[in-house]
Amino acid sequence: MCGIIGILSNNLVAERLIDGLSRLEYRGYDSAGIATIWENTIAKRRSEGKLQALKDLLGQKPLQGNVGIGHTRWATHGSPTHQNAHPHATDRVAVVHNGIIENYQLLKNDLLKNGVIFKSETDTEVVVHLIDQALQLGKSPEVAVQETLAKLHGAFALAIIFKDHPDVLIGARRGSPLVLGICENELFLGSDAWALAPWTQKVCYLEEGDVVIMKRSDGFTYTIFNDEAWAPINRPVKHLNLATGAVSKGGYSHFMLKEIFEQPQTLSDTLLSLIDAETQTSRINLPIDFSGEHIRIRLIACGSSYYASLTAKYWFEKYARILCEVDLASEFRYCDPVLGKHDIFIFVSQSGETTDTLAALNLAKAKGCVTLALVNVPESSMTRTADHHILTLAGPEIGVASTKAFTAQLAVLCALALHAAAQRKTIDTVSVHLGELLHVPKLVAQVLQDVSLFDELGLRLSQTRDVLFIGRGTNYPIALEGALKLKEISYIHAEAYAAGELKHGPIALVDKLTPLIAIAPNDAWFEKTSSNIQEVATRGAPIIILTDNPAFTVNCPEFHKILLPKSTPLNACFIYTAAVQCIAYYTALHKGTDVDQPRNLAKSVTVE
Ligand code: M6R
Repeated sequence: MCGIIGILSNNLVAERLIDGLSRLEYRGYDSAGIATIWENTIAKRRSEGKLQALKDLLGQKPLQGNVGIGHTRWATHGSPTHQNAHPHATDRVAVVHNGIIENYQLLKNDLLKNGVIFKSETDTEVVVHLIDQALQLGKSPEVAVQETLAKLHGAFALAIIFKDHPDVLIGARRGSPLVLGICENELFLGSDAWALAPWTQKVCYLEEGDVVIMKRSDGFTYTIFNDEAWAPINRPVKHLNLATGAVSKGGYSHFMLKEIFEQPQTLSDTLLSLIDAETQTSRINLPIDFSGEHIRIRLIACGSSYYASLTAKYWFEKYARILCEVDLASEFRYCDPVLGKHDIFIFVSQSGETTDTLAALNLAKAKGCVTLALVNVPESSMTRTADHHILTLAGPEIGVASTKAFTAQLAVLCALALHAAAQRKTIDTVSVHLGELLHVPKLVAQVLQDVSLFDELGLRLSQTRDVLFIGRGTNYPIALEGALKLKEISYIHAEAYAAGELKHGPIALVDKLTPLIAIAPNDAWFEKTSSNIQEVATRGAPIIILTDNPAFTVNCPEFHKILLPKSTPLNACFIYTAAVQCIAYYTALHKGTDVDQPRNLAKSVTVE
């Protein structure tokens, strides 16, 4: 993962490197560092942990220089220590890197044989030494980088500065995103355009194999090469209109809590972009024909976006009667999938940058399939790559655990399934269902009206080690999402099962110390789910039920019930999602974990 930044300027760059990194911390927060060229040396500041530690260090030991690079790390090779923090440097060259150099061990062995001494355990350091060796042989920065890139396997974005060439900044992209920011008297590099947005919105997205050489001496010019042909190449320059204001917690104790509470609004924004409230008809305007007899929907995603996709399978099959398959992007890309010419591929992603999902998208595109991306971040790699895209209008999601982006994905997927149903004429109740969807924001607001029971339950759960979740139908993926949320932010072990699946094995996990959280709306399967709950209660487990059935009770030593608004099979998953999000949040709050930036995670997963 990791976020990288570079600035070539006539002004001091250290403060802005840090500012840019603050917008890239979603990519990793194990350590951070910057390097500049100052008084003919490469000067570095690096710190373990979050960016704040680096800011504090710079407060004590400021850094001069008007060319520099910065990095925020999600550790892959080498533990998250000061020594492994980027930038990595010799006396001549400093490098920041996002991605993985897959053949680093072979390259390192050769370098070790030649007497090179390594200071870190990272894969990145081989890049530094390879460039350094070429520079020692008198090669120019351009040639040294070109020769080094030819030796590297894997995925990376690099930003590189040179002690003897303080007017040069080089960027290279293979597999990991990299954006060039253009100003009259400054040039920038960033892992995304948002990092650069306060300084320039004139950007050029580098493409696979691109290398950009930026020079101050020629009046801040840049040339883009492609590293295979090494021929200058023109890339389109885009003028963006990204928000530049910092996103605040708005009085909430955490971004995650704020984002949970924003859902009535973000759901309303998303739904009204897809449904005409007056006519209760679809406003989705896509040049995709869902009416074909043999079409198949293929949903591809990771993490929470995968669970949103699993939920959508029920809708596409039930309402539009289209066969729908859902794949984890990380599996799909390597399982030699059978791609049909009637397949419509839908890639679901909050960030639009997840490496596995992006790679699956490229694979489907290369095979000539129709591709649609559902993405929350405008101007992301997926929106730029897919044939078509729909934006979830959740706004910036800062908490690492996805909440409002997840429910916005559900909203888009449900509206899309109903749009397909209208095209296919499979049901005559499309407008009734679209109307039902429009009520979802109000129902979610009702769940959030009084969170005191979630708070009490959170205190109870914070003392437990394992939790089981169950659900049926569209609420089975919501149970999976609930377990994921709990694991991510409270570090409590949680698993979710389809309620009917429990007795096929997982019921062996049931004991007095393992609470069961059952999602049990009063729907067509209510009685069956009640029996499953009873089977667990009989075996002594504490029972927590989330239901809209006021009379529901279970005979067991420890029983908690959270009564939720009355639901329908279509809107239940939104209501129960808000509930499981609150349970996870308050459990983590009582455990005292880092809710917004939980250990070992990053917001955007840009390595395989
Ligand atoms: O940006 P994406 O939606 O593609 O990200 C996919 C997953 O990495 C993401 O949903 C992850 O599971 C979140 N941490 C869930 O809270």
